[in-house]
Amino acid sequence: MTHIKYLVAAVMLAGANIAGAEDGAAILQGQCASCHNLTGPAPATLQELWNRKGPDLFYAGLKYKAAWMEVWLQKPERIRPAGMFYPDHVKSDAEGGDEIDDSTLVAHPALPAPEAKAVTAALMELKGKAELVTAGAYTPGTLSRSSGEMLFDKFKGCLACHEIEPGYGGLSGPEVYTAGQRLQEDWLASYLRDPHAWDPKVFMPNKHINETDTRKFIDYFHLLSEEGAK
Ligand code: HEC
Ligand code: HEC
Repeated sequence: MTHIKYLVAAVMLAGANIAGAEDGAAILQGQCASCHNLTGPAPATLQELWNRKGPDLFYAGLKYKAAWMEVWLQKPERIRPAGMFYPDHVKSDAEGGDEIDDSTLVAHPALPAPEAKAVTAALMELKGKAELVTAGAYTPGTLSRSSGEMLFDKFKGCLACHEIEPGYGGLSGPEVYTAGQRLQEDWLASYLRDPHAWDPKVFMPNKHINETDTRKFIDYFHLLSEEGAK
């Protein structure tokens, strides 16, 4: 009796063996394309930016780390504290400041492990705008947490839009304390140099960051991730 149970289980496992990029591409088309741009181009007008429902994924294979992606897709947690388009998800609090209106934010769909693996494989093949990335552009350095913070907060004003730990920092951009785990270094180097080359209408200003500071920012993101804020 028991061996039949094992046999049935083995056959079921084989049937559920979705792991290839091809199966992942089908899932992307069927379940994800309504919110995510898989082919480009990025929004070219403010209206298009406002209508964007989820981050562009047509360069996912250059931007995200596969190991992070596979885990996140199974248990998605919010990365942008106030959603994709900040003004849609804040209300004024009693003191006249901004407060996130949680009731307007919906949970992201989660995938079972085999599908997350297949989708990750498919996303890693999407490499739009590859000409903007130089392989090996980032070389690791050493940086103290306080110099990173000075640069991020005082000198370049990044803290106004990004959280460096849960609950500390601006709310209109993605949290950066998980950026070290999430994002590929060579993509980051390119994005920090010129965010609008990737996303012409994004509210992230081009701060004309030089090569040295770019490396420092990426080192800083690594430090924040290692501290395991999440
Ligand atoms: C109803 C719209 C919607 C659908 C459907 C949807 N997503 Fe998303 N997705 C979003 C939003 C909004 C975010 C930003 C989440 C955040 O920042 O908290 C996001 C974020 C992501 C991210 C993280 C990338 C980043 O930079 O934040 C990945 C990867 C992703 N989605 C993949 C998928 C996949 C794969 C599917 C299909 C199985 C899918 N999404 C279906 C709206 C959607
Ligand atoms: C006015 C607000 C604003 C300022 C100031 C700002 N950013 Fe951003 N940043 C954004 C927005 C908006 C995005 C992209 C949003 C998206 O992908 O949904 C972004 C994206 C990023 C990303 C990619 C994050 C990701 O998870 O996809 C990094 C890294 C980043 N910013 C770092 C910086 C650094 C470093 C500075 C300072 C030099 C800075 N930002 C200043 C708003 C800002």
